[in-house]
Amino acid sequence: MNYYTTPSESARNILIANDRGGYTIPTSGLYPYQWNWDSAVAALGFAEFDIDRAWVELETLFSGQWADGMVPHILFHKPDPGYFPGPDVWGGTGPIASSGVTQPPLAATMARRVWEKDRVVGEARLRALFPAMLAWHRWFMNWRLDEHGAVCTTHPWEAGRDNAPDWDGAMAGIDASDVGEYQRRDTSHVNSADRPTKYDYDRYIKLVQIGREAGWDQAKLLELNPFRVADPTMSFTTLRAARDLLTISQELGIAAEGLNADVARLEAGARSLWNEALGAFDARDAHTGEWAESVSNASYLCWYGGIDSSQMLDRVKTVLTTVPHPIPSYDPNMPKFDERRYWRGPTWAFMNMLAGFGLAEMGHGVEAEALRLKTARLIAGHGFAEYYDPITGSPAGGNSFTWTAAVWLHWAGRN
Ligand code: DGY
Repeated sequence: MNYYTTPSESARNILIANDRGGYTIPTSGLYPYQWNWDSAVAALGFAEFDIDRAWVELETLFSGQWADGMVPHILFHKPDPGYFPGPDVWGGTGPIASSGVTQPPLAATMARRVWEKDRVVGEARLRALFPAMLAWHRWFMNWRLDEHGAVCTTHPWEAGRDNAPDWDGAMAGIDASDVGEYQRRDTSHVNSADRPTKYDYDRYIKLVQIGREAGWDQAKLLELNPFRVADPTMSFTTLRAARDLLTISQELGIAAEGLNADVARLEAGARSLWNEALGAFDARDAHTGEWAESVSNASYLCWYGGIDSSQMLDRVKTVLTTVPHPIPSYDPNMPKFDERRYWRGPTWAFMNMLAGFGLAEMGHGVEAEALRLKTARLIAGHGFAEYYDPITGSPAGGNSFTWTAAVWLHWAGRN
């Protein structure tokens, strides 16, 4: 008889329950398919108790890679009428029904971590995945850089931070008056106050319609897409992935032409997102050059990207001591802060983990450990939520969430 389930047992049970055979859904109902960056985090969780399953997660993700190298943000392996917009709306052109945008590239970084857990088992799997990961990296270099080398997102869903204040300026420039009728499904699964507004959703769908009409042809979309924002999530994760691909290629003796130069270009691009007046890494509209004036949790991914900053370190120290449940996805002192609404305030455990990896690697062990312990307390006290209110800690969005469980197993709940 099981009287007491430890958080680690609960976390494992969540991963197992969300496993659909080769891929893991983020949570049933709200997100019933394979999401790109969720899967990369899920692999870390599986690596703690089933290393083969961790590799399978990543392999299944790359089975959806398009001919041009893009890896979609959603793979619709099996139809599910509970989700909108589904495969028919997106009209993806890859080998598996999919969306037409990508997501921040975490996979190469997580593949390296899974390999480091067991190099004997991992080497053949990593070697086999390497060409696909490199092709995805090159797709970013071809299609997503601005003139400074910062990495742009072409849809709020592509940056993964759907309704972040970072996009407000660019979103205002989208005419969604002809978007037509559609039925949202997200708000039938979770509280609508935790989710993006209708204003946002109309624009998300309008951008999907524009992409679909262009057949997801990237050359055409460079001309047609009204939304193109250079942002810290894309820039720091792409930089980090390039560094990891370089390390992997060196350690395994795989030739990977151009990666050194790519790292230098991406690093210059990421540094160009420093907004001097704001005193933080910020998003910049690639069409207008305007700053978003947004300090988000993505701003704190600089160390994950391998870039140190004393001003960001001061900010981390402040956030760790003044916000009850850090790191908020948007600065609580700014007027747009909204403590429950998705990426406009709430704390996301996996973003904390990425920031924590970077802080520890760059010699800021005290802050990394404080962040880890606060994240552990948040999860242990409030469950495996999608995200949390940074002031009260109360859970928001979906529950029994895959990446929060994986964060517990791999990082936050570590003894
Ligand atoms: C959604 O459907 O809300 C997702 O965030 C899109 O990726």
